[in-house]
Amino acid sequence: MSAAGIVAAAGSGSRLGADRPKALVDLAGRPLVAWAVDTLLAGGVDEVVVAVPAAEHDQFAAALPSRVRLVEGGATRTASVRAALAAVGPGVDAVLVHDAARPLTPPDVVARVLAALAAGALAVVPVLPVVDTTVVVDAEGTVTAAPDRAALRRVQTPQGFSRVVLADGYAGLPLGAELTDDAAVVRASGIPVTTVAGDERAAKVTVPHDLRVAEMLAAR
Ligand code: CTP
Ligand code: MG
Repeated sequence: MSAAGIVAAAGSGSRLGADRPKALVDLAGRPLVAWAVDTLLAGGVDEVVVAVPAAEHDQFAAALPSRVRLVEGGATRTASVRAALAAVGPGVDAVLVHDAARPLTPPDVVARVLAALAAGALAVVPVLPVVDTTVVVDAEGTVTAAPDRAALRRVQTPQGFSRVVLADGYAGLPLGAELTDDAAVVRASGIPVTTVAGDERAAKVTVPHDLRVAEMLAAR
């Protein structure tokens, strides 16, 4: 099985509020995007395509190994992944889609996703249990429901797919559509999505607190 990795790295990082796109923000001496690319390669993918903001193309190229292909991202994560998917090379059977914003994801997670695909899964996501009671609220903030936490999971990346299934999912999605992850794209076309164990270290860097936590972990 030949696998490609896609890294969504074209966001601005408005909630992090840095002076550059989030994927170029430094963590222990290297930009977040470089960590994410290394994780995919160390975990066993054969090639990597990164969706980057057009204005910073050269900075991304300088930060990444030359074998990595760069494409111009879009206005939404969905549009960025769609652009990267179109640049995946021929002969690839499986595609893993990863966030640049999850720099400390261990390569083991990549390997678990690849193993599930090799065993026949069409779509697979790494998940973790929900530890807090989680509630649904209405527009006023009043609690309307408390779903059974035992059945809830937090979904991480990289998410893995049969290449054909992911391409068909994106082909069937209206051009302006915006979904929060890629499993939602294929689930919309009726494909079952299976799960493997995620890892707390794959946490997403969203706000400044997350970067401080990542700095502490990377320093060890
Ligand atoms: N992403 C992307 N293209 C976009 C928007 C997001 O490739 N148009 C990527 C980001 O670079 C990030 C991942 O999707 O690696 C997850 O998105 P998020 O954490 O929301 O990053 P940003 O959109 O950059 O941050 P914010 O929402 O705070 O602006
Ligand atoms: Mg965003």
